[in-house]
Parts: sequence; C-alpha cells; structure tokens
Amino acid sequence: MKDLKGRDLKGIADLTKEEIEFTLEVAGQLKRELKMGKPHKLLEGKSLGGIFETPSTRTSISFETAMMQLGGHMLWLDQNRLWVGEAAEEDWHDTIKTISRYLDGIAYRAVRRDRLDSAAEYSDIPVINASCPVEHPCQAYADVLTMTEKKGPVRKAKVALCWGYRTANPPAGLTNSTMLMAGKLGFELVIACPEGFDPDMKVKAIADKEGELSGGSVKIVRSYEEAVRGADFINVYSWVSPEVFAKGLETHFQGDPKFQEMKGRLKDKWCVDKKVVELAKKDVLVMHCMPISRNTEVTDEVLNSEKSIIFDEAENRLHTEKAILALHMGEYR
Ligand code: CP
Repeated sequence: MKDLKGRDLKGIADLTKEEIEFTLEVAGQLKRELKMGKPHKLLEGKSLGGIFETPSTRTSISFETAMMQLGGHMLWLDQNRLWVGEAAEEDWHDTIKTISRYLDGIAYRAVRRDRLDSAAEYSDIPVINASCPVEHPCQAYADVLTMTEKKGPVRKAKVALCWGYRTANPPAGLTNSTMLMAGKLGFELVIACPEGFDPDMKVKAIADKEGELSGGSVKIVRSYEEAVRGADFINVYSWVSPEVFAKGLETHFQGDPKFQEMKGRLKDKWCVDKKVVELAKKDVLVMHCMPISRNTEVTDEVLNSEKSIIFDEAENRLHTEKAILALHMGEYR
C-alpha cells in the first residue's frame, strides 16, 4: 500500500481497496479511543484551512471538531477573508499557492470540480474534497463505516440507493462515490432513480471494472421495489444527473421552472415510506447523508423508526474525517 501522507483526497476513484480499508480501520480505532477518553493528538501544531462554497452543517462541524480532537486547528477561509469571489483581486492559483505555505491541509467544498482539481494541482499540501459535483468521498467513507459497524464487512451486502424527491438539486457526488465504494469493496449496489436522474455513467463504468475483481456490482433500476428486495441497507438521497447539474449553478441553486415542473411530477412516487421498507430484508437499516427533506424524500415514520441509523451515520463523519486527516496530513501509519 502506498503511503497516504501528503496525498490529496479528491475522490474514492484515486484510492485502492487496501487504502480505503486501512482508513476505515483507523477511523474505528480513533472512535474507540475517543469513547475510552484516550487522547490522540496526532496533528499537534497543524492547521487545516476550510474553503466551503456552500453551506454545510455536518462536514464543516465535523472537520473542525476533528482537528480540535487531533490537537490541531482549523481556520475558515470564506469570501470575507480571502481575495476571491466576484470582487477578486488575486488570481485563484496565487491564493492557493500562498495559503499552502502556511497551512498543512485544505478541506475544500467546491461547487465546480475544476476548482477542486486546480486547488490540488497548485497547492503543496493535501487537499481533501469536502464534497464537489463529482464525488463526496468523506460521506461515502462514513456510510461504509456505519454499515460495517451495524452488520460486519460490507462485501456481499446489498445496498439499495433510493433517489428521493426534493426541491433542492444536489449533484450526484455521493452517488458516484458510493458506486466506486461498491466496485472497490465488493458490495451489491442497486440504484433506484427516475429516468433523467442517472448518475455519471463514466463513474459507473469505473465501478463496473473494479467490480470484476472485487465481486461488487452496480445496477440502475426504475423502481424502489426492484432495488430494495433483499436489501440489507436502504440509503436515500436526492440528486440530479451530471448533465442537469452542468446547466449551471444559477439554474440549480435558484430553480429552473421547467425542470422543477418535471421533477414535481415525480413527487408522489419517489418517497421512501414504510411500505417500501417492508419489501426489504426484515433487519434492513435506513440511511440518509442529511440534510433530509422529511416526508418528500423519506417519511417521518421511517426516519423516526428503530430502523433508522441516520444519526450514527452523521456521527461517523467525525471519526472517518479524523482518520482521513491523520493519514493524509500526519504521520499516522
Ligand atoms: N452530508 C453532508 O455533507 O452534510 P452537510 O452538507 O451539512 O455538510
């Protein structure tokens, strides 16, 4: 296994099965140590810069807490602090090159993948993808840790990733990262989504290829019924296709009336409720990366039931990010 130290984490695509499994093992270890009250100041004296171009509850707070628990420090680099944005007076690459002389790592939530790529290219320090339109590796790591804790190794598990209706239009980053996890770690992923909402087929092709070695598979179907039969986990998420997302941020964050009208027609059909959950295995567990649009993507009845593990999943963002930071920014081996 190649050392993760000093490497960017742009996506699951860049990692081997061994690297993913090792990071998850470290996450589990750090989680146990935290629960036992054993300090692990693995990043003492180190600084992480956070550049977030969208709001974030889980990712921002878990990264900051992770740095604190690892003995380091996180500072927030928003538009009021940097010479970036519309009134930019500094070239983006000059900003990145400069801050990488002070910091030890950057957590970047980018609204455009090319900005994440250029930040990684121009900085001399690891850039961690805190969600971009192509991948959300930190969430995918937390999801796999959660599934492993609940039911053991994910190899051979069946995961139904169910598209749920909501008015916001998030990109398919998590869907792509989950496909890659299935391909690399060897689990069965069945994605249920309406026509026009398929995730990135180029990423699916990579996952399919990886699956030839690992035994993992990715299938796209048009109904919940087909996806959830025999499922160990139902993971609910709402995303738009790469083509729709690429139409532009203004369209996507402010709403395209034609697109919203088309989506609105899917409203009643694409909400995970108790009847859907009952089609899966008896011990099926329900996940969602959050934020959730309750009663449009998934019902309160399901989210508030004992089958829901959404808060364990949210908690695991902290433990997996600590492992990512300790391995990519520090000396942990
Ligand atoms: N799941 C997730 O990334 O949540 P936030 O957008 O709140 O960070």
